[in-house]
Amino acid sequence: MTNSNISTMPDHSTVLAAMRLAGRAPSVHNTQPWRLVLDGPTLRLYRDDRRMLDVADPSGRQLLISCGAMLHHVRTAFAATGWHTDTIRMPDPAHPEWLATIEFRPWTDPPSGVLARAEAIARRRTDRLPMREPDQWDQLLHNLRMLVSPHEVVLDVLDESVRPRLATASEHTAAIQRYDMQYQSELHWWIGHSRPTEGVPRELLASEREARNTPIGRTLPAGNNVPRRADIDDRARLIVLSTHGDSTLEWLCVGEALSAVLLECAAMGAATCALTHLTELPAARRLLTGLIGHQVTPQVVIRIGADDDGPESPMTSRRPVTEFLTIGAQPQSH
Ligand SMILES: Cc1cc2nc3c(=O)[nH]c(=O)nc-3n(C[C@H](O)[C@H](O)[C@H](O)COP(=O)(O)O)c2cc1C
Repeated sequence: MTNSNISTMPDHSTVLAAMRLAGRAPSVHNTQPWRLVLDGPTLRLYRDDRRMLDVADPSGRQLLISCGAMLHHVRTAFAATGWHTDTIRMPDPAHPEWLATIEFRPWTDPPSGVLARAEAIARRRTDRLPMREPDQWDQLLHNLRMLVSPHEVVLDVLDESVRPRLATASEHTAAIQRYDMQYQSELHWWIGHSRPTEGVPRELLASEREARNTPIGRTLPAGNNVPRRADIDDRARLIVLSTHGDSTLEWLCVGEALSAVLLECAAMGAATCALTHLTELPAARRLLTGLIGHQVTPQVVIRIGADDDGPESPMTSRRPVTEFLTIGAQPQSH
């Protein structure tokens, strides 16, 4: 085959399959706040502000982190089908809703780690129950540091000794948010109902007892499942992803790093839960910075533990690809 015969983009069925897989990306409250447009050989990622959490996330920080996770999922899913992606982030400052432009190159031998993370996409899910300590922690942490560093995101491991103070900060945050009626009505719109393609159903939430044993988790409505880990105290390791500044570009990069961390953990058989309530209120965020012990801006805490659920455990559902992907030229901004 000559160079001129080599296609510069995947065919439509490959695009749809990769996008279906990428759509499993995690997002705050499973809001899936993204739109994609395939325009000729170029794929463009946009934020979808109609799916923003106006009360919990008025700056759109968690929305951007979610879109960053989607970007990393898209790139990982295409890599597994033999396509390398070249990405320009925030390509047009005049159009801040346009988050990335992605172009394709054939990639015959993506590294095995990328393939393992792509394979883990369909299995990965958020685990909100108390967890046992993760297995192979040193090896896992080494891998996570390697994966996070290209995104210019700082990874810190919180010492076990800070757990009580973090739990207290989590309780204070919950106490403030409990009496914020707007926060509560937004939370209940997304969490604990049976909307078929978005939000988090009650079956995936911790029972009251499990939530009590996971004091660093976000306070959510109680789940309706039979408690499975009511008798264990949470021994999950805690890591924090932080940035030096607090810009939209950095939020997008945190999302990419978050996705890499969650997928690597899933590939190595570890359970994870991303947590952002501790970075929503200034006091908790300041406390977190103090616990990290050097001057950074904390963005996401991640609990990492042993995965004690079988492959059959329930997953949150997603919107169909046709709801977030447009094929064909679209105005570049709206
Ligand atoms: C930016 C971001 C923030 C999140 N914050 C929380 C949180 O504070 N508490 C929590 O239990 N889950 C949190 N999650 C996990 C989402 O609820 C989860 O990804 C979503 O419901 C989809 O479910 P899945 O991860 O099981 O596929 C967060 C995820 C992202 C990407």
